[in-house]
Amino acid sequence: MESISLVVPKKKAEPVRRKLIEKGVLRRDLQIRSDAKSVYLPVTQRIDLGYPIEKMDFKEMELQVSDYRLLVDVPEEIRPLLPSSFDTVGSIAIVKMEDEVAPYAAKIGKAIMATQISIKTVCMDSGVIDEFRTRDVKVVAGEKTTETIHKEYGLTFKVDVARAFFTPRLATERQAVAKQVKPGEVVIDMFAGIGPFSIMIAKTGSPRIVYAIDMNPDAIELMKENIALNKAASVSPMLGDARELVPRLEKADHVVMNLPHDGRGFIGEAIRALKPGGVIHFYEITEEDEVQKSLDEIADAARRDGRLMKELARRRIKSYSPTMTFYGFDLQFL
Ligand SMILES: C[S@@+](CC[C@H](N)C(=O)[O-])C[C@H]1O[C@@H](n2cnc3c(N)ncnc32)[C@H](O)[C@@H]1O
Repeated sequence: MESISLVVPKKKAEPVRRKLIEKGVLRRDLQIRSDAKSVYLPVTQRIDLGYPIEKMDFKEMELQVSDYRLLVDVPEEIRPLLPSSFDTVGSIAIVKMEDEVAPYAAKIGKAIMATQISIKTVCMDSGVIDEFRTRDVKVVAGEKTTETIHKEYGLTFKVDVARAFFTPRLATERQAVAKQVKPGEVVIDMFAGIGPFSIMIAKTGSPRIVYAIDMNPDAIELMKENIALNKAASVSPMLGDARELVPRLEKADHVVMNLPHDGRGFIGEAIRALKPGGVIHFYEITEEDEVQKSLDEIADAARRDGRLMKELARRRIKSYSPTMTFYGFDLQFL
């Protein structure tokens, strides 16, 4: 498209470009051109900054829409209910939708794929369905698969969003825990899923062994693949109930407990599995005003076993509902 432009020597181009933006006259719909000597800045009107003005052809910018809500074709009354965010696991977008929005799931899926080139599949998430914390997910757009490869902190995880639990939201948390593990230590991951905590710990902290327990056979199958993908040989997968398996293991320096709705019910087994001075990385979804009560109960359970609890750290990880919060605690037991 033809436009007038300022012809500016290359060395002066950047400050002039900024000045034009400041004055609101740089054309945003056209791509800036340059040759060996000059930069051609397309402008909406003639402006005297001491540089020649020339008319020439410019390529039009492709306008990038990043919010799918600007593209999706739904009735106006549905628009306010459209999900404002979603999780991305590898190339899969996982979207929670209210009942009124669900009939438009395919249109929403297509719009998400149109705005995010890395998304190949969109799944509608209708919530947790079983004690394995797996979710009721249905492909609504794109490739008909629930399997993907997810990368975090240089690690590669094979995930099946329909067969086993996985959340991308704990990546920073996994790092925070992994950094606390010292070479040669023993770790028990009581609710290990497809292995993200265990593998991150194995690759970051060089423990002697990580016992990675889960009672979902599909999670253990994926975990074995992930151990191989990441060459995390110190992770030992164990299929079964943590309550039965943990008492049979050697004593640990760290126990990871990521079962945030029900983990407290396993705290006795975890404390008894720890060496003196060992640390439990405990996750809980709790009412904001019940955090201290929850910690006091754990301290009481420890006292009954002749152990003293010391809170090393408390991390507010994310909001779970208007009143509930997902917390991470590092609790040492002397
Ligand atoms: C919230 S997920 C956490 C998975 C993993 N730690 C992660 O961060 O991706 C909880 C996991 O605990 C497993 N689980 C639940 N109860 C269990 C039990 N009694 N023994 C072993 N695993 C259990 C579920 O199958 C699920 O994979």
